Amino acid sequence: MAEGGPGFPLGRRARLAVFASGRGSNLAALIAAFPPGGGDPHAEVVLVIGDRAEAGALTIARDAGIAAVHLPYTRGRDAFEWAAQAELAARAVDLVALAGFMRVLSPAFAFAWRGRLLNVHPSLLPAFPGLHAVRQALAAGASVSGCTVHFVDAGVDTGPVIARQALPVLEGDDEATLQARIQAQEHRIFPAAVRAVLRGEARFEAGS
Ligand code: GRF
Repeated sequence: MAEGGPGFPLGRRARLAVFASGRGSNLAALIAAFPPGGGDPHAEVVLVIGDRAEAGALTIARDAGIAAVHLPYTRGRDAFEWAAQAELAARAVDLVALAGFMRVLSPAFAFAWRGRLLNVHPSLLPAFPGLHAVRQALAAGASVSGCTVHFVDAGVDTGPVIARQALPVLEGDDEATLQARIQAQEHRIFPAAVRAVLRGEARFEAGS
């Protein structure tokens, strides 16, 4: 895929791909907002790529009638990314959403999809990037946490922020309770952030 790609707004319904490794609750929220077949004027989910065959996300996609492709990571990142690029090109994808995708994409992939590659992360970035963000927040004694949707750049959870939602950490919260409240907000802000990008209201700033 050529670097840069189309600018937003496209003037037509965007074709959205989702990469996911796990349960797929964010994928489900994106499918509800952007159903296949054109229920939303901004976008439709046309492809789901999962690196784990057993991921609930792939089942959710198939049940929704969306192309669901398992691309194993066993032959390494380059092989995964070549295969992913081929799938994205074959389905003329405009925008990629990482929804619980537990792999770090290469700087080259991030550059090729610059401005068209979004991630959701369960903390108020730049606080607590990387793995186990909810556990990190609790261990640090944070009184506030939340979630962030951002453009992906060459770093890990470092790209320009599109949307964030703060949440209080409650007395007695454990990883499961805090994560559940954070995820409920992710399901709201991720589709909203996709819409903002597709409307041209949020951009990966030139030079950043
Ligand atoms: C989300 O909390 C997301 O922030 C993180 O992984 C989790 C994925 O959950 N990156 P799900 O698979 O969307 O339910």
